[in-house]
Amino acid sequence: MNEGLLKGKKGIIFGALNDKSIAWQVALKAWKHGAEMVLTNSPVAVRMGTISELAQITSSAVIVADATSMVDIDKLVSESLQILGGRFDFILHSIGMSPNVRKDIPYENTSYENMLKTFDISALSFHRILQTCYKYDAINEWGSVVALSYVAAQRTLTGYNDMGDAKALLESIARSFGYIYGRERKVRINTVSQSPTPTTAGSGVHGMDSLLDFSERMSPLGNATAEECADYCVALFSDLTRKVTMQNLYHDGGFSSMGMSLRAIEQYKKSFDECDCDEK
Ligand SMILES: NC(=O)c1ccc[n+]([C@@H]2O[C@H](COP(=O)([O-])OP(=O)(O)OC[C@H]3O[C@@H](n4cnc5c(N)ncnc54)[C@H](O)[C@@H]3O)[C@@H](O)[C@H]2O)c1
Repeated sequence: MNEGLLKGKKGIIFGALNDKSIAWQVALKAWKHGAEMVLTNSPVAVRMGTISELAQITSSAVIVADATSMVDIDKLVSESLQILGGRFDFILHSIGMSPNVRKDIPYENTSYENMLKTFDISALSFHRILQTCYKYDAINEWGSVVALSYVAAQRTLTGYNDMGDAKALLESIARSFGYIYGRERKVRINTVSQSPTPTTAGSGVHGMDSLLDFSERMSPLGNATAEECADYCVALFSDLTRKVTMQNLYHDGGFSSMGMSLRAIEQYKKSFDECDCDEK
């Protein structure tokens, strides 16, 4: 594979907690393709995770920032401009968290305080980052911003709770800011809707193992891995995709276009053979 797609490009990667994180794989791939980066995560993630290992491998600076704090994001963007020696070319937003999912509080009995937190961390943080970059004119022309999403923004998936609403908001922000940033500064903004992936955030979703299996059976190409997602993000950061913007791009092995597959229906039928229920 060509390994110089991001030669001379610089960027900020949000959300690498450990080597399972999608952001970790994106940072690694971007570095292999010649990019220079600043890595960032929340104070607790920097303390508990292994981001310093990634920083060492990729020779990147780490800046601690809570994505819900305007002060932290302001400091992150202004310091990154100094560290990277001027404007940068790409951003990965790979941030998601729902206190409702974490505490197993069902959607129909939500705590609005938690729900607002979910939206603030998982979606409004994207607006906050874009607004700050816009204010500092921090992104070069033809720069590229990618945020990670999930098909629960369009379809209801049991257990995904208020994260589905957060992803719908995230995708909408990509379109709304994508229009303004494209029109004024020629910066593109997209979301990548990734397959379920066994990461720390992913494992928090109720019934994740069954979801991974179902999704694998439903997708003609199988689930996309974090590493494959990283390849796609690198392509989106590169100059090969300069006119792609304001899109939600599925990276899910075909799952989002399926209704029922042979592999899934075979498993579904088996469950009836094994029980003596009336619906048989
Ligand atoms: N794993 C999946 O199945 C899957 C599927 C589709 C999309 N996604 C999305 O991919 C993105 C990355 O998740 P992941 O699966 O790699 O899991 P992960 O747990 O490795 O990453 C989530 C990151 O969000 C960060 N974060 C949480 N609160 C934050 C805050 N206040 N400020 C800054 N950072 C904060 C965490 O520290 C962590 O690094 C998320 O947006 C997630 O919704 C994941």
